[in-house]
Amino acid sequence: MHFLKETDFTQAQAAEVLSLTKSLKQNRGKHTPKVLSSQTWAMIFSKSSTRTRVSFDVGIHELGGHPIFLNKNDIQLGRGETIHDTAKVLSRFVHGLVVRTFDHSEVEQLSQEGSVPVINALTDFLHPCQTYTDAFSMAERWSDSDDLMGSLKGRKMVYYGDTANNIANSWILGAALFGMELVLCGPEDYQPSPEVDVVLQVSGYEKHYTFTTDPLEAAKNADVIYTDTWVSMGQEDESKERISVMKPYSVSNDIMKQAKPDALFMHDLPAYAGMEVSEEVLYGSQSIIFDQAENRLHTQKAIMAVLSQSARSIAKDI
Ligand code: CP
Ligand code: NVA
Repeated sequence: MHFLKETDFTQAQAAEVLSLTKSLKQNRGKHTPKVLSSQTWAMIFSKSSTRTRVSFDVGIHELGGHPIFLNKNDIQLGRGETIHDTAKVLSRFVHGLVVRTFDHSEVEQLSQEGSVPVINALTDFLHPCQTYTDAFSMAERWSDSDDLMGSLKGRKMVYYGDTANNIANSWILGAALFGMELVLCGPEDYQPSPEVDVVLQVSGYEKHYTFTTDPLEAAKNADVIYTDTWVSMGQEDESKERISVMKPYSVSNDIMKQAKPDALFMHDLPAYAGMEVSEEVLYGSQSIIFDQAENRLHTQKAIMAVLSQSARSIAKDI
């Protein structure tokens, strides 16, 4: 089993991830089941990372496993060894792969040609570890019961900026999986690609999103205002054009005022204050950005536990 996209887990498994995340967070430092005991997991990264890299390293260690960080350029993959051979060889050594790369087909190929679980730690297309973490970060605010998933149903999230990037695509899948209503708001030329609709359809979900270019109208009655960088990794050459066309979608207090009074502000980070969001909003009282960052650790531990099929025994154990 692999975790390459949001819908690789069923809704029941997604609910299991959220509730396990809650237990792992509550019990960190007191009791963590060692579900990766005697295992070694490799983390292959072709792009920069702070949160994903550190939270996986710490998380694998806390579950009793041994993480190995591999910068793509330090291994033969960076000199042209094929994904096929890399997948076959690494599967002889390690028990799981955490992969951050450009082309989504690379994580798919690794999962098909290797024989160990593969976790997508961000591709140009999707960032599913972020979506599940975000879902947990909202649910822990909204739910005082164990029904974390239920607390997300029908909630309205508005996502501003580049609505064709990996975070937007991931939330298109996430909104369908978690039963939320997603409004994507950005420039006409940066609309979601039809590719993500195909994934939705193949996964058996209805569309739970709409697209608009009107930033104030979009925010009305929102439970969550979300944004991400306008220039994703690998798009640096397009910076000037992107910044100029996305300016009207910078999240400001004017936008926050249109949302519900208790709406959350969210950002996957890294953030660029003064660009996609004002400093006031980014560090304001409605912002939960650092909870989101912390929750990467707890959520990814739960994801690894579900992949290692020990989730039920852990849930009983803690
Ligand atoms: N949000 C996120 O994935 O951050 P990093 O790029 O620092 O890992
Ligand atoms: N869209 C951003 C997300 C960073 C976590 C990027 O791909 O650079």
